[in-house]
Amino acid sequence: MLSYVLVAFLSVLLAVLFIPREWSVTFGNKSSQGPSARLLSKRELSLYDGEEGSKGLYLAILGQVFDVSRGHKHYGPGGAYHVMAGKDASLAFITGDFTEMGLTDDVSSLSPLQVVALYDWLAFYQRDYRTVGMVIGQFYSDTGQPTQALLQVEASLAEGQRIKAQSEAEMVRFPACNSEWSAARGGRVWCSTKSGGVVRDWKGVPRKLFSPGSSSVRCVCVEDQSAADEDPNLQKYDRCPSHSDSCYVGEY
Ligand code: HEM
Repeated sequence: MLSYVLVAFLSVLLAVLFIPREWSVTFGNKSSQGPSARLLSKRELSLYDGEEGSKGLYLAILGQVFDVSRGHKHYGPGGAYHVMAGKDASLAFITGDFTEMGLTDDVSSLSPLQVVALYDWLAFYQRDYRTVGMVIGQFYSDTGQPTQALLQVEASLAEGQRIKAQSEAEMVRFPACNSEWSAARGGRVWCSTKSGGVVRDWKGVPRKLFSPGSSSVRCVCVEDQSAADEDPNLQKYDRCPSHSDSCYVGEY
């Protein structure tokens, strides 16, 4: 019995002495991180760049660190994305700028829709690679708490998801027209039960859609003509009967 107690005591003592402090930090704020996630400094992360003699092959995105050794051909020395190893280069995932200036974790210049795309990358790493923990600095404090910068990115993500959902709903409500151009007759736009990638049980009529706050105009198919007449963002094509499903246009 005494020997069991002694072994248990020694195990606890060894664990306390030898498990690095960074492995035993616990986070309560993000359930996706699991009960215990490792906190790394930027310098520690840089030791995992996959170069000979390095400690491994990690990369970070939005402050979350992943073990990408399985993707050695991409991230290891000689790989196309080796520059991303051992660091958090979140911005470059969107800009494609792999210069020293571009390899930064400052994503404050990204638009809400770009932030959505960045989170798609994060989801990719969460799905395909092992999570290691978090890097201290831009997105997580030295106690593993989200920084102001992370809260701002999360707010931008929510805004981007709202814009994306709205534009997806608009794509279904107002699918893009079919269009063609010929030297003899110029441009033509028309509606059918499949246009703009939307298959439906109505054809609709072509209308110009003006997006508020933008100078862009696009041709969309509108199901309900009378509602379209009321909508200030929709306009008929000149010299095209309002019920016609095909209109000749000078330019699209
Ligand atoms: C913003 C620009 C880009 C970024 C940030 C980017 C990033 C990446 C990353 C991180 C991977 C590795 C994914 C993994 O872990 O499996 C990857 C794979 C790949 N990328 Fe890119 N990429 C960019 C543009 C491009 C372009 C323009 C091309 C083609 C001309 C390209 C071709 C590829 C291919 C073919 C793979 C897959 C290779 C394989 O699975 O064997 N990428 N990309």
